[in-house]
Amino acid sequence: MEKDHFAVRADGYDTTDYRLKYVEEMARSILDTVPLTKEMVLMDFGAGTGLLTERIAPYVGRIIAVDISPSMIEQLEQKRETLPCELETLQMDLCQEPFPSEKVDGIVSTMTLHHIEDVPTLFRRFRQTMKPGAFLALCDIDSEDGTFHTLDTGVKHFGFDRKEIMQWCEEAGFVDVRCSDSTVIVKPHGEYPAFFLSGRAPGGKLR
Ligand SMILES: C[S@@+](CC[C@H](N)C(=O)[O-])C[C@H]1O[C@@H](n2cnc3c(N)ncnc32)[C@H](O)[C@@H]1O
Repeated sequence: MEKDHFAVRADGYDTTDYRLKYVEEMARSILDTVPLTKEMVLMDFGAGTGLLTERIAPYVGRIIAVDISPSMIEQLEQKRETLPCELETLQMDLCQEPFPSEKVDGIVSTMTLHHIEDVPTLFRRFRQTMKPGAFLALCDIDSEDGTFHTLDTGVKHFGFDRKEIMQWCEEAGFVDVRCSDSTVIVKPHGEYPAFFLSGRAPGGKLR
């Protein structure tokens, strides 16, 4: 396995004020846009310690939380009993290993895409694990000057250009692709706008 870039961060990850604020606002972008039901099974890609998972959990039946980092999954496991939905945790590299065979109703993710080298391929792989009409709802930062991260946690992109990431999404076959403002992440050394990207797998609407 690749190095666990988050090993030194996992303990205490949830105590950073700016992080709690942006995850709250990113979760709001998703909850305000995607109609969720207790019948749904979602994948949280790069779930980390579960900051997004716990905000989505009241509205869905089950979350498959996927993360490459054993130390982040360990933190998430400690929240299992408090989550108001079923939880499955999978410690795996979704860029290298086969996707779970179960098809999901949607994929959510916050602040993970910039850790993925080949995002167009990941988008095509997402499609394989989604039901017809399933939704994609992802948040990440806009293009930045490389100052966002102060520690190397396996960063592969200094944010994204919205037009380019929408194009990758459409080329992977998603429809109704949209991108809008989500939040502005305020760190002590700078402010970083973040976007909300949504789309739908073709082949029917879930509702
Ligand atoms: C910045 S954290 C975001 C965690 C969480 N989504 C949040 O917003 O608090 C990025 C997460 O992506 C995970 N990650 C990075 N590359 C991955 C991959 N190839 N497959 C699965 N998870 C990955 C990292 O281990 C880390 O937990």
